[in-house]
Amino acid sequence: MICPRKGLCSNNKIFILLVADKLSHHYIKFCIFAVQFLRMEMDLLIPDKVHDESRQGEALLLEPVVGKNNGRKLYIESYGCAMNFSDSEIVASILADSGFETTSDFNNADVVFINTCSIRENAEVRVRNRLKEFAGAKFKNPGMVVGVLGCMAERLKAKFLEEEKLVDVVVGPDAYRDLPNLIEQVDGGQRAVNVLLSREETYADISPVRLNSNGINAFVSIMRGCDNMCSFCVVPFTRGRERSRDAVSIVAECTDLFNQGYREVTLLGQNVDSYKWKKPHPALSKGEGSEEVKGSEVLSFGEDLGEAPIVNFANLLEMVALVGPELRVRFSTSHPKDITDEVLYTIAKYDNICNYIHLPVQSGNSRILELMNRTYDRDWYINRIDAIRRIIPECAISTDMITGFCTETDEEHNDSVSMMDYVKYDFAYMFKYSERPGTLAAKRYADDIPEVVKQARLAEIVAKQQQYSFYRMQARLGRVEKVLIEGFSKKSNNDYCGRSDQNAMVIFPVTEGYKPGQYANVLVERTTSATLIGRIID
Ligand code: 5AD
Ligand code: SF4
Repeated sequence: MICPRKGLCSNNKIFILLVADKLSHHYIKFCIFAVQFLRMEMDLLIPDKVHDESRQGEALLLEPVVGKNNGRKLYIESYGCAMNFSDSEIVASILADSGFETTSDFNNADVVFINTCSIRENAEVRVRNRLKEFAGAKFKNPGMVVGVLGCMAERLKAKFLEEEKLVDVVVGPDAYRDLPNLIEQVDGGQRAVNVLLSREETYADISPVRLNSNGINAFVSIMRGCDNMCSFCVVPFTRGRERSRDAVSIVAECTDLFNQGYREVTLLGQNVDSYKWKKPHPALSKGEGSEEVKGSEVLSFGEDLGEAPIVNFANLLEMVALVGPELRVRFSTSHPKDITDEVLYTIAKYDNICNYIHLPVQSGNSRILELMNRTYDRDWYINRIDAIRRIIPECAISTDMITGFCTETDEEHNDSVSMMDYVKYDFAYMFKYSERPGTLAAKRYADDIPEVVKQARLAEIVAKQQQYSFYRMQARLGRVEKVLIEGFSKKSNNDYCGRSDQNAMVIFPVTEGYKPGQYANVLVERTTSATLIGRIID
């Protein structure tokens, strides 16, 4: 699958023209080949649930909180990863509590918020363009409060207020509880900024509202921030130090979702394998928050932990899996340096923990991995892949790959290609390196790979991945997949769609007796490179 995340498809169409202008005949032939693949793929994209392109810019709508109406309307739209979308739910929840109603039309809003992403330059360009569109609404309604939230707010801080004159309030990801005060400050005629990062904030006590959801899949944030300092990445600067959320509140939230009818939770964190939470003394069952999970199996599991003072990611996965066998558990993102055999054995042990691991490699070359400060090398990564294949033979694996990182040679790029040949990933999200101000790479290394070379390397791995996605899909032909039905397929109300355990999108005719939220056994009869197509069998 090609990258469904950052609008790469449309970018790719443009870059092929540039490449064709400048490169050798050999490359031109290769690029035409890549374009054919991209065209083929365009209407077959699987939305990546962690960074879903189809949700970029989506506005959040909530039921008003009875008795709390302050007569003002909030419009909030989100960009970037699932963590940002999940944060917008927290923001909406905080403001609903102060009496705000939500609207889907920013022209009618009193407060307009845009929750932003900084991971690559094009994500920021997109937000700047959107702010220009808000300017017209603010011109008509000068009392409107416009706010920038999230990673761009954190990266640019008060500078944003100078650069974008229409912005009144700038709020970083750890300061959302302060929003009601900040809005008051703006009402009083000032502009307001709070970009303080916290070592503790996890918003564990705020139950996020989920009204844009299908009532079947939900994201549950288990940690915030990142301590890894990959040299290309802006996240440690925008989201601060890593901290894990209270395991009891996570299990309570998953239990609550299950009781409401949800059948899949995706546990979210920048690096879930380093999840670590200290159990309150003396015992979980008597600790804070135990009320909410009373009666669930988790409590007895917590007690079974006995003297163990720490809940690690493998323990947490098990605790969530025990909420109920009908609740599917997914997670993202894993880190090759931290993923343990214990986690793999836990996945293998529980049928409801999905056989799917997103394990970003970023590069297949050890020198580049060192420059990226990924803290593992090629052999280590291969060892982790071998462990997954050994412990969970049916596991699907996806990755993130960056092309054209500083000083990357053709041979080093070929190591990334050969890593793809070794793993034969089910999916891959592929990016050209985009220098981000303030990161270690921006400070230490020149962004010296010409754009045209970055693009050609990207086209090469996109085409390669296309072959392997197709190969992986073909391997499912004739097999029966357990699919969680999510709703009608995008193209027809005569078909349902849902995901297999391995996260492949499956399309099959609507069948009497089956409805969204239920599991179905689907015999796979055809495939594309992104979708399995079949029919329900008993
Ligand atoms: N340039 C290109 N890709 C990046 N990513 C993160 N930072 C950059 C950057 N500066 C990619 C990595 C990461 C994914 C979420 O985004 O592959 O895993
Ligand atoms: Fe960024 Fe690396 Fe942390 Fe992922 S693990 S968020 S790439 S610093």
